[in-house]
Amino acid sequence: MPEAIQIRCLQFIGDREIQGLSDVLIDCVEGGASVSFMLPMSRAKAEAYWHSMAKSVTRGERLVLAAEDAGGTIVGTVTVILAQPENQPHRGDIAKMLVHRRARRQGVGVALLAAAERSALSAGKTLLVLDTASDDAERLYARQGWQRCGQIPNYALLPNGMPCATTFFFKLLHSG
Ligand SMILES: CC(C)(COP(=O)(O)OP(=O)(O)OC[C@H]1O[C@@H](n2cnc3c(N)ncnc32)[C@H](O)[C@@H]1OP(=O)(O)O)[C@@H](O)C(=O)NCCC(=O)NCCS
Repeated sequence: MPEAIQIRCLQFIGDREIQGLSDVLIDCVEGGASVSFMLPMSRAKAEAYWHSMAKSVTRGERLVLAAEDAGGTIVGTVTVILAQPENQPHRGDIAKMLVHRRARRQGVGVALLAAAERSALSAGKTLLVLDTASDDAERLYARQGWQRCGQIPNYALLPNGMPCATTFFFKLLHSG
């Protein structure tokens, strides 16, 4: 990863962060990523999503990490969902791992995932779970030691309305 890229766990998500996170989300959906949203992907939808996530961060339900370039522009993000049912306090979910197309294939995704795993462990999590509809992401998770569980067909829709499968992964976290 370029030295100029910094990964930051956002303690507070203000207007500047919401703009940057929305830019990344819009770019990924327009690029065809299956990450909850359909086309057309408006700025209003993206901003409403991140406003709601900002409140969730404030409530301590999730961690949102951002990768920023030397100028402070957000080029990628990943979320760790901490809030789980009372019988799964040790589990977290990884969601919304997104890297802007112009910042891909430089190691930002791997750095975000590693930082998310460290943050989850620090928050007391020892098991992480995620699902993905992206072959690029699948390779990345497998390389980083995640265990592939299997695939569910027709799980979601791509932004253009085509059905797509999702693949589930988990990783046990250990300190040291
Ligand atoms: C999946 C995603 C987050 C990966 O982000 P990324 O920043 O490109 O990830 P990395 O750079 O760490 O790795 C991607 C590839 O670049 C390669 N790479 C990393 N650094 C490199 C470098 N300096 N030079 C050349 N290649 C490099 C990696 O080996 C990897 O190769 P592979 O595709 O052959 O496996 C990104 O593609 C994305 O946002 N996709 C859309 C959203 C999505 O589907 N997210 C998953 C939801 S769970």
